[in-house]
Amino acid sequence: MPDLTPFTQVYDREGTAAEKYLLCKALFGRDDVLPMWVADMDLPTPDFIIEALQQRLQHPLLGYTLATDTTYRAIIDWQAQHGYSVKASEIVFTHNVANGFFMAVSAFTQPGDGVLVTPPVYPPFMQAPILQGRQTVEAPLILQNGSYQMDFAAMEQAMQQHNVKLMLLCNPQNPSGRVWQSDELAQLVDLCIHYGVTLVSDEIHSDLVYPGYQHTPTASLSEQAAQITVTLSSPGKTFNLGGLQIGYAIIANPQLKAAYLKVCQANAISGLNLFALTALQAAYSLAGKQWRDRLMAHFSRNIDRLEAFLGEHLPDVNLMRPQASYLVWLDFRARFETHAALKNWLVESAKLGLSDGESFGGESGSGTGFMRINLAVPTPVLEQALHQLKSALERSA
Ligand SMILES: Cc1ncc(COP(=O)(O)O)c(C=O)c1O
Repeated sequence: MPDLTPFTQVYDREGTAAEKYLLCKALFGRDDVLPMWVADMDLPTPDFIIEALQQRLQHPLLGYTLATDTTYRAIIDWQAQHGYSVKASEIVFTHNVANGFFMAVSAFTQPGDGVLVTPPVYPPFMQAPILQGRQTVEAPLILQNGSYQMDFAAMEQAMQQHNVKLMLLCNPQNPSGRVWQSDELAQLVDLCIHYGVTLVSDEIHSDLVYPGYQHTPTASLSEQAAQITVTLSSPGKTFNLGGLQIGYAIIANPQLKAAYLKVCQANAISGLNLFALTALQAAYSLAGKQWRDRLMAHFSRNIDRLEAFLGEHLPDVNLMRPQASYLVWLDFRARFETHAALKNWLVESAKLGLSDGESFGGESGSGTGFMRINLAVPTPVLEQALHQLKSALERSA
C-alpha cells in the first residue's frame, strides 16, 4: 500500500503569506471561503526537493549563481520523456512562465499587432498583449460533445484579418485540461507557418497528463514546427514551486532566440535564482517522476470523488474530465440563469473560492456560467468542500 500521508495531511498555511489565502477577501469579498482557485497545491513539495534546498543552505554563501551543465542536462533529460529532443543552446531561463510569454509578446510583435488566443484560456494570455499595447485577438474554442476543439476556420480568419504575428497556445489546456493531439497541433502549425505567425506553446501542465493521453510538445512535431515555436515550461506546477519563480523557454530558431534574448537583456533578466536552480535539478529526476505518478493517482481519486458527488447531488452541473492537470472546469449553465447568481451562491452560500470562469473567457464570454476548481488538495479539504456544497444545497432546497 503506498504512503498516502502527503495527500491526506492538511497543512495550515497561516503565516506563510500564501497568495491563495491572502487574496480571498479581495477576490471573494470575504476571507472565510475555502480557497480552491489559483493553480497552487495545498499539498507539500516532496521531501527530496525540500532536502536539496536545505542542503544548499548548509553553505552560507548565497551569491550570484549560474545554471551549470547539471541544470541543462536535467531539463534535456526531463523533456526527453515527452519525446522532445532539446539542446542546451536552445534553453533560455525566465523568471517564471508568465514572464516568458509576456517577453515573447514584446520580442515577436510590434505595438498594434495581433496576438491570437483561444479562450476559454489562462487569463494572463488575454492581458499580456493589451498591457503591452498589442491587440488580443480571440478565436474561441468550440465546445463539442463535452470537450473543447480548436476552431481552425476562426483562427485562420483571425490571422487574415487582424495582423496576427504571435499565437499563445496552452498545451495542455488550462482551464479544461484538454491534451492537444499531434494532428491538431500539426494543423495549427501549418496555419502559423502559412500566415507567418510565431507560436508560443505554454507547456507548464505537460507533466501532469493522465493515463490514456499523451502530451505532444508542439516543437517536437517537426523541424518546421520547432523553427516557429517557443516552448515555455517549468517544474512549478508539478512540484508546487510557484513561490520560487521558476521557468524556462526552449527556442530552436536562432533568430527567434536572438530576438527573445534582446528583450531579456533589456529587462536585465539573466537567469534563475539560486533556489529555483536547486529545486529544478532535484525535481527533474527519477524521484521526481515517481512523485509525479503518485500525485496523479491522488488527483484521479479527487476527480472521481467530485464526479460521483456531482452525479448524486448536482446532476445538472457538468464536470469536464481533465486529460491533464488538477484543475477541473465545471459547467453550471444548466443550473444558474446568470453568472452573478452562480458566483453569489458559491461564495455566499457554499463559501467556496473557485476561479471565476468569466475571467477565462475574455471578450468571447466563453467562460460565462463556468467555474474552475483546483483539486490539488488533501482528501479532507475536498471532503470539506463537498460538505459545504451539500449544506448550501440543503439550505436552498
Ligand atoms: C498555463 C499557465 N501558464 C503559466 C502559469 C503561471 O506560471 P508561472 O507561475 O510560472 O508564471 C500558469 C499558472 O497557473 C498556467 O496555468
